[in-house]
Amino acid sequence: MAANKLPFKRRFTSRSTATQVLQDETIEGKTILVTGGSSGIGVATVEALAKKGATVIFTGRNVSSSEELIRNLKVSTPFAKVDFMPLNLCSLKDVQRKLDIVIFNAGMFGGSHTVTEDGYEAAFQVNVLSQLYLLNFLKPTIFKSTPARIVFVSSDGHRGTNLTLEKLSEEALSPPSKDSYPWRQYANSKYCQILLSAYIQKHWSSSGVTSYALHPGHLIATNIVREWSLGSAFAWLAKPFTKTLEQGAATTVYCAAAAELADQGGKYWNHCWVCEPVVREQQAKLEEAVWQLCQKMIVDKVPGYIIPE
Ligand SMILES: NC(=O)c1ccc[n+]([C@@H]2O[C@H](COP(=O)([O-])OP(=O)(O)OC[C@H]3O[C@@H](n4cnc5c(N)ncnc54)[C@H](OP(=O)(O)O)[C@@H]3O)[C@@H](O)[C@H]2O)c1
Repeated sequence: MAANKLPFKRRFTSRSTATQVLQDETIEGKTILVTGGSSGIGVATVEALAKKGATVIFTGRNVSSSEELIRNLKVSTPFAKVDFMPLNLCSLKDVQRKLDIVIFNAGMFGGSHTVTEDGYEAAFQVNVLSQLYLLNFLKPTIFKSTPARIVFVSSDGHRGTNLTLEKLSEEALSPPSKDSYPWRQYANSKYCQILLSAYIQKHWSSSGVTSYALHPGHLIATNIVREWSLGSAFAWLAKPFTKTLEQGAATTVYCAAAAELADQGGKYWNHCWVCEPVVREQQAKLEEAVWQLCQKMIVDKVPGYIIPE
């Protein structure tokens, strides 16, 4: 079958919204975690899922905007079951009972080279490492909730990646300032999400966990460019031609909820349809190597930490 063919008819376009995508799906009774639900595409994702009756827990750093989102949602949708959790790994016990769907939406584009308190390049840590760490914590709960789905909001920006199996190293993922370029860092972090998604699909699908990676749309007017002033100007100029937030959330909720995608895990999606991502030589080995290296980079910074089986 050609890479962009699926065994069912295409139902949505690049202009479909999250609400339209969810119209015929049943997600009532599901518990869904959305990282980065406090801003941009994440807000539209949380709203659409909560309005369809799912219990939605979202994370973010901005407490006041998150509380405002909940207040507004409770006014427009009094039955909405939505809760905010500051992205604080010490509080993860809140979501340890049941977790049917996890959406890794939080992300950043670093306009300049920044090093985190753990010593890693910030875009790589925020987009990949911290969310993989979170996934490690959530794994037992996800496995108790199967059939479960994991959704990575990646980006078509991953096409600027320079990662290959030969070049893969800790320095390639988290380079020092002199070798660090914002677009390259973003591209590599987003490519890592696609590779991790494929790895998860291969290793966890026999237990009932499926994984998806996707592109939400180009230059959607959000806060992603908050650290890059030229980017804000581009986003403003492009706004009439790009997706709205509701359209930007459509492929995310499609991957999270569409019944027809239950056995389509491991693929990359754009405009609510399958799409071919960058594929390297020895791709399967690259997926494995990225998973192992990322886990090592976590363990190196968390003494005594044991990755859950
Ligand atoms: N906008 C686009 O055109 C576009 C295109 C391709 C892919 N994407 C992807 O779409 C996803 C959503 O981005 P967006 O455009 O909606 O951007 P956004 O408005 O900046 O939202 C990003 C979200 O991530 C959270 N976040 C960022 N850094 C964080 C950190 N250090 N710790 C915890 N949470 C953090 C933010 O939380 P706080 O605000 O509370 O800090 C916010 O909720 C990202 O993964 C992005 O790469 C966006």
